[in-house]
Amino acid sequence: MKYLIANWKMNLNREQSLDLAKEYKKKVKGGKEYQIIIAPIALALPEIKKELGRSSIKLSAQNVAAEAVGSFTGEISAAMFKEAGAEYSLVGHSERRHFINETSEMIAKKITRCYEAGLTPILCIGETADEKENNQTEAALVRQLQSALFKVENLVDKELFIAYEPVWAIGTGACLVPAEMAPIYRVVKRTISSMVSDKYYGEKVKLLYGGSVTGERAASFWGLAYLDGLLVGGQSLSVEKVKAILM
Ligand code: PGA
Repeated sequence: MKYLIANWKMNLNREQSLDLAKEYKKKVKGGKEYQIIIAPIALALPEIKKELGRSSIKLSAQNVAAEAVGSFTGEISAAMFKEAGAEYSLVGHSERRHFINETSEMIAKKITRCYEAGLTPILCIGETADEKENNQTEAALVRQLQSALFKVENLVDKELFIAYEPVWAIGTGACLVPAEMAPIYRVVKRTISSMVSDKYYGEKVKLLYGGSVTGERAASFWGLAYLDGLLVGGQSLSVEKVKAILM
């Protein structure tokens, strides 16, 4: 099973989100080969959940609060997203790390909140252009993985999605060459295996790539046996483009 996660970000209002979800339901085939997971704006989740009915498409939050409940004006908790129909949540997307100054402490708390609420976290990690230039990619990924996961209790029992999204590739048109994915996979696998076990990595962890994925580029990523899926931003706003990615 391969995964396609459609991150709609803050691009569509409620009505537009619902319309696009209807189109996905009609035209994008998931089924046995592909699991489609849509991450719409929070406000659209309940309606989209209702619309999807028995469709195999699943829903993700784009973010959850670092705290479980209480006086946190403007926040929405993981449990509230679960109630609204989400089964997953993105955590630590680079747009949140960089534009909203989300810290590694907050990201670690959000991972825990997801598990408490029964959401599977999709932890986003990735190096900046500077880190890549200075050969700091591996160090950045190890740091981000360890700081996000070290406090999780009984991680060994928990499903975990890791989305490798190099910051320089998100929404820029610059994309990783698929051959560059192998060393990334080895770092992620080694780091998580050393925190839990090889067996855990093999059974519970899914690795995704994200960053300027297009129809033309997707095929070579789908061909990587160790890669479980793609996290798609811009192109996921068009059903035709999603279909091209899934071909
Ligand atoms: P992009 O975004 O596909 O538009 O580069 C990916 C993401 O931010 O998840």
